[in-house]
Amino acid sequence: MQLTEYLKEKKQLINQQLELYVRDYSVPGRLQDSILHSVHAGGKRLRPILLLATAQAFEVQEEKVLGVASALEMVHTYSLIHDDLPAMDNDDLRRGKPTNHKRFDEATAILAGDALLTLSMQVIAEDPHLSDSERIYLIQELSKASGAKGMVEGQMQDMLSENVEVSLEKLENIHKNKTGQLLKFSILTGAYLGGVTDKVLTEMIKMAEALGLIFQIQDDILDITGDASVIGKPTGSDEGNHKSTYPQLLGLEGAIDQKEKYVQRALENLKNANIEGSTLSQLIQYLSIRDH
Ligand code: IPE
Ligand code: IPE
Ligand code: MG
Ligand code: MG
Ligand code: MG
Repeated sequence: MQLTEYLKEKKQLINQQLELYVRDYSVPGRLQDSILHSVHAGGKRLRPILLLATAQAFEVQEEKVLGVASALEMVHTYSLIHDDLPAMDNDDLRRGKPTNHKRFDEATAILAGDALLTLSMQVIAEDPHLSDSERIYLIQELSKASGAKGMVEGQMQDMLSENVEVSLEKLENIHKNKTGQLLKFSILTGAYLGGVTDKVLTEMIKMAEALGLIFQIQDDILDITGDASVIGKPTGSDEGNHKSTYPQLLGLEGAIDQKEKYVQRALENLKNANIEGSTLSQLIQYLSIRDH
């Protein structure tokens, strides 16, 4: 299957699942409308798609991972709602629509984020396709990836790095947490449920770390060179907020070179894990050159 077709098909599948979960697990009314506003706004669903592709590479049944893939997208969507708030990046456009606090209000946006985060854990805890030990493991890993040593810590360091010059090492560390951890969870889940050997798991974790950096470097590049109507969020947000980014530290060319280096590394890891022929290898290259 062509990658564009694959992306389209899996995105539809995830969208259906998300809609079902949100309608099932929340009460019709303002909170549900606010959650659905951000869920429907139509992100690329890259994290769940990476999870499905990794599961496929290790021969895990798709129905087994659909719940946890949806839960991951809920955490990601909550992180974006909060990231856009006036107290954080103060952005008005997200996924081509007004940000949640613009369409509703700040209090509602904060609560919609809270609801999505907690819902994600409930979805995994109640997933009938997973065993008890799988549920506990996945809840533990998703909490770690999202929490105070994961994405939230990355966001904290990102905020603290506004208006100050940071080293490349420090920037890499911020990226690893704020973006890398949730991406890593998608890869880890597919590999774990596939029952891979320790050697393969180590390669997949390294691949996921490279992928997180590729992803965030491209996000930083698109904030400069992207077209707001294509990326669905404003450009120039990083510069406006005096953020530390790869292009700001290395220049645009330097950032592109760095990204290429990580692409080669990630492809090498896939080879070492014996799954270089899988959709994941196309996804790595796509994530590096994506225009939105
Ligand atoms: C944007 O993530 C935020 C970052 C972590 C850089 P995506 O580019 O995956 O956003 P959506 O989900 O497609 O809207
Ligand atoms: C946001 O990073 C990362 C998380 C939400 C965890 P950015 O602030 O760079 O994301 P965009 O550019 O607003 O999507
Ligand atoms: Mg931000
Ligand atoms: Mg932002
Ligand atoms: Mg950004």
